[in-house]
Amino acid sequence: SSSTTILGLESSCDDTAAAVLQITDGAASVLSSVVADQAALHAAFGGVVPEIAARAHAEKLDICAREALLQAGTGLHQLNAVAVTAGPGLIGGVMSGVMFAKGLAAGAELPLVGVNHLAGHALTPRLTDGLAFPYLMLLVSGGHCQFLLVEGFDNFTRLGGTIDDAPGEAFDKVARLLALPQPGGPAVEAEAAQGDPARFRFPRPLMDRPGCDMSFSGLKTAVLRARDEVMQGGKLRASDRADLCAGFQAAMTDVLVKKSARALDKVAGEGITALAVAGGVAANTPIRAGLETICTDRGLRFVAPPLALCTDNAAMIAWAGYERFKAGLRDDMTLAARPRWPL
Ligand code: KG4
Ligand code: ZN
Repeated sequence: SSSTTILGLESSCDDTAAAVLQITDGAASVLSSVVADQAALHAAFGGVVPEIAARAHAEKLDICAREALLQAGTGLHQLNAVAVTAGPGLIGGVMSGVMFAKGLAAGAELPLVGVNHLAGHALTPRLTDGLAFPYLMLLVSGGHCQFLLVEGFDNFTRLGGTIDDAPGEAFDKVARLLALPQPGGPAVEAEAAQGDPARFRFPRPLMDRPGCDMSFSGLKTAVLRARDEVMQGGKLRASDRADLCAGFQAAMTDVLVKKSARALDKVAGEGITALAVAGGVAANTPIRAGLETICTDRGLRFVAPPLALCTDNAAMIAWAGYERFKAGLRDDMTLAARPRWPL
């Protein structure tokens, strides 16, 4: 039997991550997946501060890598390659990761493979479910929102996406408007479960326009206006808050599900067998349920990887690196860290 072991490294946003992936006769197993999040460092600033993120990555990459190797029981000499996110993302973090990976690869005499972070997300259903090409991917996170037709490990076609905020960003901003904790998604979802989704009819921007583009910034503004209308003496009643969350989530779900249906219909002739999701927003139960329904209606599979592999992690980077490695692709010391890198 043939076995390949890859160390994956990720540092493009606010999570430092390292993972060891082993592929034996085509079957992948995540031996370890370590994620050090920086939420506590950025909490006071209301968003990710790039300089703080870069420093934290530089401080944590070696610790995470050592921990991942330790947990996997793997020595450096047992690795076949080092895969690292080379973009897109906050450049200080990406540079920290690329420089660390170069040092490690040179020191241990290992091949180096640079990976696109978005490709990491988009190929995850192949790691978790062995999904075959081609398939449709909906990537919905705090920073991204796009439909991708995935036809190969290096063959992605963007069908559309948000023209302003990402859905996770909208969930987080709405949580802030309603004095709910961060990250906003789970808090808003829990509130919404207690509320009436029909009381506030929030806008569904771009819904009736052709194509797969979406817009969410107006939705957030509408929630702000509705909140100010129902607030009394600066106070928001619990039932009002729940109804606002329910109305917001209903609009969000409606847009994502209808646009996903449109994207599926657009690629209907391409031989796809599944709609797959990735990103933190894929954790949302009503959104998941809506996506599952449109798949069932069309006789397609709906693939939602476990949440720990949907959000930022290094196992997905190791997998995407493996797909490149297997195809004979390698990088060298000229590998560049790229703040922008469309698929
Ligand atoms: O994939 P992720 O970890 O990547 C980014 O950092 O972008 O996604 C995080 C985002 C946050 O905005 C969070 O509020 C959202 O995913 N999220 C959710 C839920 N759980 C996490 N949004 C809606 N419903 C949820 N249950
Ligand atoms: Zn990501």
